Amino acid sequence: MPLDTGAFADGPGHGQKPASSARARIVLDTSVDVGAALRAARQSLGLALGDISETTRVRERHLAAIEAGLIDQLPSRPFSIGYVRAYATALGADADTTARVYGNFLGLLSTWAAPWAAIMIASAEPTTERRTVSIDLREDWPTALRESGFDDTKPAAWSAEGLLMYLPPEAQDRLFDHITALSAPGSQLATEYHPDTGPTMGERGRAMNDRWANLGCDVDLSGLFYEGERNNVADYLTDRGWDVSSRTRRELFGEYGRVFPGDDALAAFRNIVSVIATATGSQKKGG
Ligand SMILES: C[S@@+](CC[C@H](N)C(=O)[O-])C[C@H]1O[C@@H](n2cnc3c(N)ncnc32)[C@H](O)[C@@H]1O
Repeated sequence: MPLDTGAFADGPGHGQKPASSARARIVLDTSVDVGAALRAARQSLGLALGDISETTRVRERHLAAIEAGLIDQLPSRPFSIGYVRAYATALGADADTTARVYGNFLGLLSTWAAPWAAIMIASAEPTTERRTVSIDLREDWPTALRESGFDDTKPAAWSAEGLLMYLPPEAQDRLFDHITALSAPGSQLATEYHPDTGPTMGERGRAMNDRWANLGCDVDLSGLFYEGERNNVADYLTDRGWDVSSRTRRELFGEYGRVFPGDDALAAFRNIVSVIATATGSQKKGG
């Protein structure tokens, strides 16, 4: 596992707590899993979670969540990284590196790799084979999908999240036309739309970008957004025979027992509507 247990020096014997003045120097190999590395180090020092909690003033349940990779049981990202820093410090490990690696890990989870990283963390066995298809959704992606084995006689699951603003309005419609044509009855589609796209899109994009720039992101993502009036996704899918349900972001958060933050940082996302649609078999196949 990711811990070099042979590499601590001047530390206490097994079963003793590290004294703050003569703290063990241990080396965590965080290349696989920071939480697992922390747990292995703690156990190798004979320390209980309660000992770490006492030293760091971080609640035991949060320390346990860090060890188990249960990030949904942790508070916000800065707090979580702070906890990991404190935990590593309490063990006498390199707190800066551990915190940085953990921050990268959280960043990874919140972006493209989220579903796969979650599966890896849960050590779940996937029941399907993953095949990636590199395509531009403005082009003929259904052919590429079919050529790599997609079977449109079986129900499919589609997710188009955080994507639509990167497509011109007409490509957004074409995307849903193709999905409609490829969807056997029972197929499910998860997507979302901004009711206030169009003229305000560029403005909101720039506001988001300014915020990200302040956080150190030097890529102007708003330059990738397409402006222009768009069809309302829920209406568009309903018109094509999908059984559609929509929820506001606040409702969605509420269903997961969470409160949508009211601060300005998320203002650009406040009005997003989440859409779930089921193919009924009576869709109008246009794509
Ligand atoms: C903000 S991310 C959405 C992340 C996604 N929900 C996930 O969990 O992986 C936007 C995604 O849109 C993709 N994208 C943008 N324009 C595209 C296009 N023309 N064709 C295909 N993918 C595109 C980008 O590659 C990126 O992965």
